[in-house]
Amino acid sequence: MSTPATTGNDRSGLSGPPAGAIRTITLAATDDFDGWRSAARALAIADIAPDRVEWRVDGDVGDLFGETVEPPPVTARSRALTAPRHFIDLARQAACHRDPERFALLYTALWRIQRNPGFASDRADPLMQRIEGLAKAVRRDIHKMRAFVRFREIEDDDGTQRFVAWFEPEHHIVRANARFFVERFANMRWSILTPDLSIHWDGETLSETAGAIRGDAPGGDPIEDVWKSYYASIFNPARVKIGAMMKEMPRKYWKNMPETALIPALVAGAQAREAEMIAEAQQSAAAPGSNRSGAWQALRREAQGCTRCPLHRCASQTVFGEGPVDAALMFVGEQPGDQEDLAGRPFVGPAGQLFDRALIDAGIDRGATYVTNAVKHFKFVARGKRRIHQSPAVGEIDACRWWLDQERALVLPRVTVALGATAARAIFGKAMAIGKSRSRPFALSERAEAWVTVHPSYLLRLPDAEKHDAYRAFVDDLRAAAQRVS
Ligand code: URA
Repeated sequence: MSTPATTGNDRSGLSGPPAGAIRTITLAATDDFDGWRSAARALAIADIAPDRVEWRVDGDVGDLFGETVEPPPVTARSRALTAPRHFIDLARQAACHRDPERFALLYTALWRIQRNPGFASDRADPLMQRIEGLAKAVRRDIHKMRAFVRFREIEDDDGTQRFVAWFEPEHHIVRANARFFVERFANMRWSILTPDLSIHWDGETLSETAGAIRGDAPGGDPIEDVWKSYYASIFNPARVKIGAMMKEMPRKYWKNMPETALIPALVAGAQAREAEMIAEAQQSAAAPGSNRSGAWQALRREAQGCTRCPLHRCASQTVFGEGPVDAALMFVGEQPGDQEDLAGRPFVGPAGQLFDRALIDAGIDRGATYVTNAVKHFKFVARGKRRIHQSPAVGEIDACRWWLDQERALVLPRVTVALGATAARAIFGKAMAIGKSRSRPFALSERAEAWVTVHPSYLLRLPDAEKHDAYRAFVDDLRAAAQRVS
């Protein structure tokens, strides 16, 4: 982003207007965080009070007649000015909000941090609360764009294929989100048109043009059938919670999403999942150019920043699934334990070792399977130096199902094995009695089924006298499920 311009009503002094004058900082764009940062840094060093600064964005009304001067120079001292990393991250997000006061609020906070370094962590302060609120709304909008952009296929004038999507973000998030779409759809040529800004990817270069109107984007074409099929194949009417769905997928996005036309019929109980639809969906995921593993990597990266439930606050990291993205057999555990949390990999601690042994005894190559958890963050209570496992709450399982559903939609396993009650709940969307449901298949669709068995930790906790038989039954379940793949 370009260097911000400053306008002022007095030009005397080292850095333009004197400290008492109002300075107008004009940023290059609505999301010009770098411009804000460099101007704010110089202003804070020059000790310019927040009420002496007016923040504008290039092109704003009222900007036309201002005199442009350089912002206070960046000196060795200004380079030493610091703010906590978490404040900078928060400010970067909040800067994308549509609130016209966002840059002024951020500068006020920065100025106060210079006087009280603890201010950035003061969650009770109304200013920090407001900034947190802005950042949260932006994160949500970013997430919505990732979830609800739907491409339609068109042919360019030169006969080449391009995918075009129309999206109306609430905030200035399009640039902040561009990298995600580049990574996720690296092999496609695509454009995302939005009212303020349009971005285009030609397979090598990302470019920008001005905003567009809805009519510039195609209104629907055969690719929609694939989306609809895909959606229908992963839609489980038994799991629909209308309130939660409306919250996650507000109606304003429905008009851009072909599959939402299906919702009334699906909600009404239409469970027909045609085999050809699923084949189509599978093809769309595996077709050349679909970049399935790129999509998985982008998903994994996105999950690293997950804040969908409070568990991220205490856990060391998101522990995502691992294994081939086209694995026919998927195992779903409960949540990472202490060792998984540190290693960043599922099933590597004591339960993982027992699981590995059972896989070998069942004749299953773990490397050919996809192993993941229903909940991606470790939940625990600290007791001295120990971190004691806590079972995830239903709300946490439901929040995290966002990731599991996406893993399952990408991998499309023929057989999914739920290890324990939490995994079963995440897969079926309701509580399942393990004793009653284990050792038999449950059809998820014409080509996919789920099995339920015990969790390896359960075997570890059993009295010695019961361990042997329970272990044998567990191995039998794994073997029986794996045999269904072939
Ligand atoms: N238990 C689980 O459910 N998952 C792991 O990754 C480790 C222990």
